[in-house]
Amino acid sequence: MSSLPESASADREAIELSINGESCAVAGAPLDRLSDVLRRSGFIGTKVGCDAGDCGACSVLIDGEVACSCLVAVAQVQGARIETVENLASDDIGASLQQSFLNHGAAQCGICTPGMLVSATALLRSNPQPDDNAIEQALGGVLCRCTGYRKIIDAVREAHNVNSAPPNPVTPIAGAAIGAPVRRLDGTPKVTGVDRFGADVIPADALRLKVIRSPYHCAEFTIGDTDAWLREHAGLTHVIHSEHVPGVNRFGVIPPFADQPVFAERVARFRGEAVAAVIGSAQAIAALKADDFPIEWHELNAALTPQAALQADAMQLHEQRPGNILVEGLVQRGDVTAVSEFTEQSAVTTPFIEHGYIEPEAGFATRVGDRLELHTCTQSAGMVKDDIAAILGVADDQVRVLPTSVGGGFGSKLDLSIQPCLAVAAWVLNITVGGVYTRTESMQSSTKRHPASMQVSVGCDCKGMINTVNFEGTFNTGAYASWGPTVANRVPVHASGPYYVPNYRAHSVAVHTNTTPSGAFRGFGVPQAAIALETTLDRLADNVGIDRLQFRLNNALRNGQPTVTGQVFEQGVGIAACLEALQPAWLAAGERIESSQQQSHLHSHLRRGRGLGTCWYGCGNTSLPNPSTIKIGVDKRGVVVLHQGAIDIGQGSNTVIAQIAADALGANIDAIELRGADTDITPDAGKTSASRQTFVTGNAAKLAGASLRAMILREVNASAESVLRFNSGVIEIDDGAETHRLDLQSRPDDEHGYVFTAIERYDPPASALDENGQGNPYGQYGYGAQLMELTVDTKLGTVTLDRLTTAHDVGRAINPQLIEGQIEGGATQGIGMALMEEFIPGVAENLHDYLIPTFGDIPAFEHHIVEVPDAEGPFGAKGLGEHVLIPTAPAILNAIRDATGAVVTELPATPDRVLAALSRV
Ligand code: FES
Repeated sequence: MSSLPESASADREAIELSINGESCAVAGAPLDRLSDVLRRSGFIGTKVGCDAGDCGACSVLIDGEVACSCLVAVAQVQGARIETVENLASDDIGASLQQSFLNHGAAQCGICTPGMLVSATALLRSNPQPDDNAIEQALGGVLCRCTGYRKIIDAVREAHNVNSAPPNPVTPIAGAAIGAPVRRLDGTPKVTGVDRFGADVIPADALRLKVIRSPYHCAEFTIGDTDAWLREHAGLTHVIHSEHVPGVNRFGVIPPFADQPVFAERVARFRGEAVAAVIGSAQAIAALKADDFPIEWHELNAALTPQAALQADAMQLHEQRPGNILVEGLVQRGDVTAVSEFTEQSAVTTPFIEHGYIEPEAGFATRVGDRLELHTCTQSAGMVKDDIAAILGVADDQVRVLPTSVGGGFGSKLDLSIQPCLAVAAWVLNITVGGVYTRTESMQSSTKRHPASMQVSVGCDCKGMINTVNFEGTFNTGAYASWGPTVANRVPVHASGPYYVPNYRAHSVAVHTNTTPSGAFRGFGVPQAAIALETTLDRLADNVGIDRLQFRLNNALRNGQPTVTGQVFEQGVGIAACLEALQPAWLAAGERIESSQQQSHLHSHLRRGRGLGTCWYGCGNTSLPNPSTIKIGVDKRGVVVLHQGAIDIGQGSNTVIAQIAADALGANIDAIELRGADTDITPDAGKTSASRQTFVTGNAAKLAGASLRAMILREVNASAESVLRFNSGVIEIDDGAETHRLDLQSRPDDEHGYVFTAIERYDPPASALDENGQGNPYGQYGYGAQLMELTVDTKLGTVTLDRLTTAHDVGRAINPQLIEGQIEGGATQGIGMALMEEFIPGVAENLHDYLIPTFGDIPAFEHHIVEVPDAEGPFGAKGLGEHVLIPTAPAILNAIRDATGAVVTELPATPDRVLAALSRV
């Protein structure tokens, strides 16, 4: 029997239990959470997402039954048999499930995967071939924010077939990786429980840090005698606050707008803002009550909405931004006052939306000589490095960022969160210190989707050709800038939708309020604008008397037509192809609805409807430089080492970039070994945002692969068509006439430690916009359209989603399986946006008050992957990550109106709002 590490508040009577078949004695406190005991004991496959039983990430088997281990005191499992994800491979069912998850692409970021696998194991032990309903019931306690659940259901249903399933083309022949559903290259650690996220890498002996936060939306504060306070609290060692920040007490993702302090100075501008941090032993920090901290608060009047913040007597959040206006955006072209024969108008509001990633912010920092090392979950190692160097007042090369795996990000992990607190503590105190946000801290302090208040007017002629679009949007950007300028500038570019609009004006304003900062969330404001436009288009099409899909197709932007910024693409405009791909499903849905309405007179309160939404989305930064660099080398082993700095937050860049590099080089993808985004060893591939990695980093990978290939071919003067084979210590080059052998062992290493090295950079073409928003903001756009079929219960106001048919133009499908995963995950976030999600500061700060979609909320999916090659994209590929969310909410709202006539203009469309809209019909 082994002894497990004990907690400090130890009751010395040991608790005996079995973990994964081994008898153990826990000499800790009997009330310690089982999840904490397991993690302290090294079973870090058991993840902690909420400590409240809401997310299910910590699910384990206790005597064969699924339980949230965060809700179980270790004393409750005296004598019990515990099984964690680490044990699943030891029996056929667990091993089959793991393989099936890999085969079906059921793990994206992977943070929920252990909980899903454990729950599925319990199900399959009692029911080896469950149907979808049984799977949904059994796994329903585990939340996933990435996948949209369908691929998880598929993986569980087909697990019994793993051995007879056709081999997954994980090893396509050399040069044929693109287009193959290559299994996620980083997938195995996600299903075996050994993947390391932010909380998993903190050394056991590190001190811990807890942030002290404002309990008020706006308040002045005075910190008391912290030395005396520390003396009264055993185990707590230090307090740090704004005066301890050695460099600039400011950070921000857009340097000219950087305004958020690491620790607030005198005034806290939003509820949850950091004002200080306490450092101490893990046990003392776990026991710390934040309201015990010596601080005096004086609450001030807060402006929580743009309407309040724009009042003349409202408090000014930032001196340099009069009127609380952060920034305004404008795009105009033609004469928006031109007279149209038909006009429709809408006014739509959307709320704050929480990202809801299952992994809270976490990591640790340590001082190594005159350098700081930061291990953390982030979407951008390079931006973190630059900001931390400025905060510490040191040179950039004195900071090393080693990203961990990321348990979902969706935009919010672009911003700094816990990292500056850890970095300041480690640097000024010369300690190793780690920290993990609680779920409530994460939700209080992390960025959100911008609430929007929008008005749009669309005019067309008697044939239904759009003549004018006039859009006005006010966005609540919260207390600090974050990505507010990007949202304000991206929205006017996109508010036209993917249509040809000759006369256009779109104006946006981002307004500071005393709320959590709004930032980047999958679409940078474009999903909100699409709701306003697409719901208006449906009514306009009806007024003119044209089928709603045909109306969109008639107005779809075409090659050679100018966008609303005057940019002209001579190839690659794919919206018409997407709409055409949806046409059969649109017609079939109409027939199904008509027939069901004829038969449903007994259930006339159940109304079926169909609705469309479309998207276009510029990939990469708006009108700004946006480069990625990729390094690729061949070492003496004959291994191709890909330094891939595009952080994979679950979307699949580790796999997609490797596929592109492999084909450009002409190597089998199995020859490639990945090096992750460590800022010391991997060039900067920019941030994982704006759907840029496949496009921008993919192009850098293509260039680097081609450059390395040319270098190798030159060595033996072989033809461009030669076939390369990377074997142990040797490259074979077959040019048809002969096979050359390059002996790598006998060749010297270059300055990078490789025999051959290529480093290439790609920056997409884009130009600044003029005062009217005219110019070329992006090197490429991606396009998509979605069709939702649903049923509305007109008595209850509830909405049941029946089927979602999607058509997304990806230019060239690098990895069809990952594309489907992105579509289903993004659409599911769109479902949440449409029907249930609303973050209210001070109210919905946990995952039982803030609802995200679960298994039971998801429709059937059908996908059409459209490939209209892009001139700039690698092998024609376009970005996809954000596009997939944009059409979903408008498609749902349009389907609700189609079913019932109800026009919902305030999101989410909760039953009370649907009923209110019905009462206006
Ligand atoms: Fe489920 Fe990321 S894969 S939360």
